[in-house]
Amino acid sequence: MRVNIISPGRINLIGEHTDYNGGYVLPCAINLSVNLYFEIQNEKSYVSTDIGYSMSFNVDELSMKSDNQWENYVIGVVRELKKIKSRLKNFYCKIESTLPSGAGISSSSALVCGLIKGLNVLNDLNLNNSDVINISRNVEHKHIGVLGGIMDQYTILNAKKNKAILLNCKNLNAKYIDIDFGEYEILLLDSKIKHNLANTEYNERVKECNKALATINSINKKKIECLSDVSLDEIKKSKNNLSEKEIKRATFVVEENFRVIKSSNLIENNNLIEFGKLMYKSHEGLRNKYEVSCKELDFLVDQSKIFDEILGARMMGGGFGGCTVNLVKKSATNKIIRKIKDNYESHFGINLNAIIAKPGSGIMISKF
Ligand code: GLA
Repeated sequence: MRVNIISPGRINLIGEHTDYNGGYVLPCAINLSVNLYFEIQNEKSYVSTDIGYSMSFNVDELSMKSDNQWENYVIGVVRELKKIKSRLKNFYCKIESTLPSGAGISSSSALVCGLIKGLNVLNDLNLNNSDVINISRNVEHKHIGVLGGIMDQYTILNAKKNKAILLNCKNLNAKYIDIDFGEYEILLLDSKIKHNLANTEYNERVKECNKALATINSINKKKIECLSDVSLDEIKKSKNNLSEKEIKRATFVVEENFRVIKSSNLIENNNLIEFGKLMYKSHEGLRNKYEVSCKELDFLVDQSKIFDEILGARMMGGGFGGCTVNLVKKSATNKIIRKIKDNYESHFGINLNAIIAKPGSGIMISKF
């Protein structure tokens, strides 16, 4: 049996760092993907990538951890699946990708979801999408060491072409929103920056938010489940017991959550100008209150303000590098890419990568 999987990347229109706080996000999948080709093997497993990495192992004698981070994704998936079915089949998997890694468009979740889905079919595991999300999260949390939320996995598994998903990350209620931006399109500008600190800082934010929530609950004598559900008033009332940082983090999360709900209404009513303004507000909050931006991303967002044809821009994903997402008039896209590319290169000496992202469908599986 052969199984082919097309596992897409995702972008997020707005709603950053709200997922693990039980808030809303507004992501969609894109037309770039990690593609995996599987076959069953008898003796040993062999996984190879189109950028020259390969690993060979037996599913029953897999090491705990590798020095190569990409191998830990494979190890993590196999180890987590063995908890469900102890005897897995050895397999061959060739991986090809059109998704740049480290750009904040979820190449790692696309890889993990693709691996789980492929091995699910090869081993008759009968996993449903929520199993895949849970396993994928366990891989990230336990084998990679990042305490990520569920936005990426949910989007990869459930996205529909030309739709964004207004997802409530507390209860996974989802509403599909048409995103025909008419004469506008989504332009990603990949800063090509990948800060080592990103994972440590990400985990730090998760902890700060949990701590802030516990304090807000105890001061207000409440049992609010998620930080995104507290009110600005409750934060204010707790301010003598919260650190400066915790006040900023909590305020950002609550404000960003409102912005997602407002944005989905604005997009539904075709009010892209106001939506663009919220994108800028989101970036401001991520930079000043959540403190997950970096000078290269700030530069790219500032550059976007030079052009009337850009309605909004902000950093996207976990932060400390990766992409900005820009809402750009199609007729001006090429001119804008040329100009910002030149300015970025003369400022930082880096040749940025520009990607026009088309909202695509979720993961696709074919077997034969
Ligand atoms: C990363 C995580 C997501 C989400 C974003 C920030 O992409 O994987 O779960 O938390 O950062 O919005």
